[in-house]
Amino acid sequence: MKHLLSIDEVGTDGLRHLLDLSDHMAEINRRPVPKVPALRGKTVVSLFFEDSTRTRLSFETAAKRLSADTMTFSVSTSSVNKGESLRDTIETVAAMGVDAFVVRHMSSGVPWQISRWTEASVINAGDGWHEHPTQALLDCYTIRTALNRPDGFEGLHIAIVGDIKHSRVARSDVWAFAALGARVTLVAPETLLPPSLDGWPVDVAHHIDDVVSKVDVLYMLRMQRERIHEALVPSLREYTSRFGLTPDRAGRLRQHAIVMHPGPMNRGVEMAVDPSELPGSVIAQQVTNGVSVRMAVLFQLLGSGSGLAGEAS
Ligand code: NCD
Repeated sequence: MKHLLSIDEVGTDGLRHLLDLSDHMAEINRRPVPKVPALRGKTVVSLFFEDSTRTRLSFETAAKRLSADTMTFSVSTSSVNKGESLRDTIETVAAMGVDAFVVRHMSSGVPWQISRWTEASVINAGDGWHEHPTQALLDCYTIRTALNRPDGFEGLHIAIVGDIKHSRVARSDVWAFAALGARVTLVAPETLLPPSLDGWPVDVAHHIDDVVSKVDVLYMLRMQRERIHEALVPSLREYTSRFGLTPDRAGRLRQHAIVMHPGPMNRGVEMAVDPSELPGSVIAQQVTNGVSVRMAVLFQLLGSGSGLAGEAS
């Protein structure tokens, strides 16, 4: 594997392998000094053309814990503002000696395009509405650990609720959850579903009350207000009344059920309940696990095969 551009290209076996590798990384992260020399001498550049808090910091933390050098490209202070083309920007940064680009962009397909222009590995950290493969990995890893499912998700019922249409997280998660054996239900109004669900391994519901007391995992998506340019829901209040997680609905979750959200949350819209008062919330674990799975991805792409043993100097 040279690049990570979409989750399906990893394959089911590759997915399982990365989840196993994430277990090793999680073990490193529990040490008093959570750092190993595995990627010493490698350089990882984060190239974020769109706002991000957790994904960018999580990749940078992951790279540092493996002893890679990191560079951060910040669009607002770069020559992109002087009109430099994307290709010139990539070639300029690559000329400094780069082993991996971690790319987030508002347009689908940009990480793939960049992979044609450079010898370095390219990791998709979210492109438009298309894919967010490391989010799918960290979500699978979180379900696997929280519900103790090391062998797969057979028999698990997962509902993904909200703005599926604009969500790259949903596109990557559906494939990954189904590949591991889960039943996936999408819960959204028609206007927030993709125009066609042909080939999606899912069923569909149109009200959160249809699923809330039945599922093992309730995955809440953010209303992607910055990607919505038309009135797709009558009002946010109406949206919350049919698709929001309210305290009443939280009380109807099964005892063992977990609640997930990729962040950032819209409090009072899809999350009309304080997650700190939800016993089943694993939202903080998702963030913690994000570092371990991104270490696994970086190690898989850039590791020299010399293993993970040893302490970093
Ligand atoms: C997601 C993203 O940016 O795709 N957030 C994230 O990476 N944690 C989801 C979102 O923006 O709603």
